[in-house]
Parts: sequence; C-alpha cells; structure tokens
Amino acid sequence: MTSGHGAQEWDSRYAGSDRVWSASPNAWVHDTVGTWTPGRALDLGAGEGRHAVWLASLGWQVTAVDLSAVGIERGRAGARGAGVDVDWVVADVATWEPPDGATFDLVLLAYLHIQDEVLSKARGWLAPGGTLVVIGHALRNLTEGVGGPSDARLLHTEAEYRAASEGLLVEHLGEVVRHLPEGEAIDLVLVARRPLGEQS
Ligand SMILES: C[S@@+](CC[C@H](N)C(=O)[O-])C[C@H]1O[C@@H](n2cnc3c(N)ncnc32)[C@H](O)[C@@H]1O
Repeated sequence: MTSGHGAQEWDSRYAGSDRVWSASPNAWVHDTVGTWTPGRALDLGAGEGRHAVWLASLGWQVTAVDLSAVGIERGRAGARGAGVDVDWVVADVATWEPPDGATFDLVLLAYLHIQDEVLSKARGWLAPGGTLVVIGHALRNLTEGVGGPSDARLLHTEAEYRAASEGLLVEHLGEVVRHLPEGEAIDLVLVARRPLGEQS
C-alpha cells in the first residue's frame, strides 16, 4: 500500500464527514494548471474529486482514480452537481493500468503519499509533451510546518521528486507554503514535462 492507509481507512474517513478536503482545487494546482490548454488528464488519488471536477469544468477529459469507493462516490456526485463528466475508477494506483495503454497530457498527484514505483509508472503514462504535476507535504513540514502526516515515510524531499523526474524536463521543483489559521504548511511541488517527439 502506497498511502500508509488502506481503502477501509479512507472509506471511513470520508464516510465520517461531509467533506474531508475543500471542494475547490488546491491554490497552487489552480494557479499552475488553470491556464493550460485542456487535453486528457489523469488524477491519481483523486479523493473526493475536487481537482477532477474542476479540471473537467475547464474542458479536460478526466480519469480519476482512488482506492476509496466512498471518496469516488462523492466525486461522482460533485461531477453531477457541476454538470461535467469524469471517468471515475475505484482502484489501487500501485496496480492499476490505464485501459488500452492510454496516455495523458496531464498526470496529477495531489497529496497522494506515493512511493517511487507509482511515480515512475505515472511518468510512463504521460503523452509526449504531457506534464507530471505533483504536490505533497515536504519532509521539512514535520519539524517546521503545521498539519500533514506525522509519519516521515509519507513526506517528500526534493531529491525524491528529482529522481521521479528522470527522463522528463523539470520545469519547477520547490516548496510552496500554505497559510493556515494554525500556521504555515510546507508543501513540495513538481512540474515536469515529457519531451515532445519521444516514443512511449
Ligand atoms: C490526502 S488525500 C488527497 C485527495 C485529493 N488528491 C485531493 O487533493 O483532494 C489522499 C487520497 O489518496 C488515496 N489513495 C491513497 N493510496 C492510494 C492508492 N494506493 N491508490 C489509489 N488511491 C490512493 C486515498 O484514498 C485518498 O483519497
């Protein structure tokens, strides 16, 4: 399991509350991706679907994968409410494969506490010119920030993100601070593009 939690834990976390995450996209994801030309997008660890629904409303053709059926069901309801279509998939991203070898112009991982092998698979699902966009909690957040997992194995370093970008053109790698009422949360972000003209 890549998350440190299984489907049951996430299901009960989602079932126990109206909404665990905000309905709107993360601010950095919004500012980074919001102006891009829509194409095919893959949202890995989509949760309650806030990014998938938002991307679909911008015209992206979105596949959203999460191991929590409760999270995906909430995403489905959100898409219905917004009048958009998303291809919802309940699956473990560690074992899931895109149908028919599909590739994507955008692969998004937002706070999916991934292991290296998921990132390297995600790299392989990029279409030529496609972009990998990752946001997670920085390891530094454990000692200097607020919120986020307290298990260091679920936190990320620049070296880890750089290694995950092998063969891609890194357009941005660094920290982003979220200002919360209780203090500053330190995230680590990556934008890395697959070179054009490369065969998969
Ligand atoms: C912190 S939440 C983030 C949700 C969403 N990306 C967002 O930003 O609102 C992490 C999500 O990853 C999902 N997840 C964790 N491990 C997974 C795995 N191996 N396969 C698919 N989904 C996974 C969980 O079910 C949970 O919904």
